[in-house]
Formats: sequence, structure tokens, C-alpha cells
Amino acid sequence: MKIIRTALEIHQYCSNLKKTGRKIGFVPTMGALHDGHLSLIDLSLLKCDVTILSIFVNPAQFNESLDFKNYPRQESEDLLKIGHRKVDAVFIPSVDEMYSKNEPMLEFDLEGLDLVLEGKWRPGHFKGVITVVDKLFRLISPDKAYFGQKDFQQLCIIKKMSAALHPNTEVIGCEIIREPNGLAMSSRNALLTDTEKLEALIISKTLFEIKDNWEKSSIQELLNNAKREFEKSNLQLEYLEIVDAETLNSIYTKSNSPSIACIAAKSGNVRLIDNIILY
Ligand code: PAF
Repeated sequence: MKIIRTALEIHQYCSNLKKTGRKIGFVPTMGALHDGHLSLIDLSLLKCDVTILSIFVNPAQFNESLDFKNYPRQESEDLLKIGHRKVDAVFIPSVDEMYSKNEPMLEFDLEGLDLVLEGKWRPGHFKGVITVVDKLFRLISPDKAYFGQKDFQQLCIIKKMSAALHPNTEVIGCEIIREPNGLAMSSRNALLTDTEKLEALIISKTLFEIKDNWEKSSIQELLNNAKREFEKSNLQLEYLEIVDAETLNSIYTKSNSPSIACIAAKSGNVRLIDNIILY
């Protein structure tokens, strides 16, 4: 497994691979790898000739400097975790390698997908995400790129950006991987104590309850019940919305198109998100 730290080297490495006609699978991450990331790597290994992983905690997508500072960074553990898998290269750039001073963010019209849900709570976040993903795609030119559906809004946004700017890259959304007790796997879980992890189960429990009662109850009833449960918990609910899975706009009555329940809640300073698809 090659470890590459410069933009020039990863670009040359990938251009050479492309010339041989091999299909490149790419898994972009911010590290603190967990089984969710490993499932993306395994899919890429299965479907592509070459698998490249990136580990880069992207400052441009953090709207709170403390959140950026506290984000878990565990490079050596990460490399150990993927050690026995046949990942071909891991790209681990520094911030200076990815961004020059005063570098502009990518200007791309997301047609409102960036203004709802996470976008309301984390202004500028998605601009930072598409800027770094566009940069990574330009360096790597992947044939397929794998993202988790836990960040459902991010996935929709990256699909939109990529379809316009990287039409030769297929963006693939992969199912959420959960702990046996239901907690969605997330790098941020590493910042929770054992008690906080148990308390955080209210997030997945709420989503499962909404799905289980989807046919029986109205959207308003489902949301009200869930919000009452959160009031009794130690987590601060930022939002719980049921949205159209395509437009991401809130829906108040059920329709035939797929919808998705999305939650963001804070356990202390740690912000957690999760979602469930409702048909
Ligand atoms: O989902 C993430 O880990 C990040 O947002 C991503 C896609 C790697 C961009 O920094």
C-alpha cells in the first residue's frame, strides 16, 4: 500500500493508472475510520481494479474552529485498520498541499439543496465539501467514488456537482452501517463516552419508530412524538424533518415519492446526524 502525501504525486500515480485502462475506485474520508468506511473500501475493492483512499480533515467544511480542532485524527490507527485490505494507495495531504493562501471556494449552484437541513445549521459547510471533493476528483479522476448514505444530503449534493463537473465519475451511495444496538457508525462517535453513546441511541430509535409507524400515523404525529422523547433526553435536537428524498424539502403529507427522515442532535459538543429512508 502506497502512502502519498503530495497532490503532484497522487495526480501522476492516477494518470499512469488511467493510461493502463484500469478502473479507479475512490473512497474519500476524513479519517478516524470505522466499519462504515471499511464497507466503502470493500465495495471499491470488489468493483474496481484499483482502490484509493484519502484521509484529509478538510478545514473548509467546518464552520466552528473548535469542531475542526477536536475532530478525531488517528492516522496510524487508520493505516492499521486498512492494513490487511488490498488498498492500493492512501492519499494523506496536508492542508497546505490542498489549499493555497486565500484560495477561492468552488462556485457551483446547488439549486437550494445546500440551504435546507444541515445547510441551515452549518452555513458554508457544503461549499467546503464540494470544493474539496472537486479537488480530489480532479487529482484522482476516479471511475467510481463511494460515499456513505449517513450523510444523505452530502451525497445528493456531491452527485449533483459531480454530474456537472465530473461526468466520468460515478458517485455511489452506500448503506448506513450501524452498531448492533442501532447507533449509526460515525467518526464523531470516537468523541463520545460510553454513557453518551448509550444516550445517543435515541437518534436511531426515533428513526426506527418513525419508519415502523409510517403507515399508521400522520407526519405531524410522528414528529411530535419524537420531539417529546428528545425533550426527556440529554441530547439537544437541532432538527428532525421528513423531507422529499430528491428535493430535500420538508413534506407535511405523505406522497408516492420516497421520503427520508433526517435528524441532527448534539450530545454535549458532539454533533451527530442520522437518517432513514421511508417509502
Ligand atoms: O464525509 C466526509 O468524510 C467528508 O465530508 C468528505 C466527503 C470526505 C469531504 O471532506
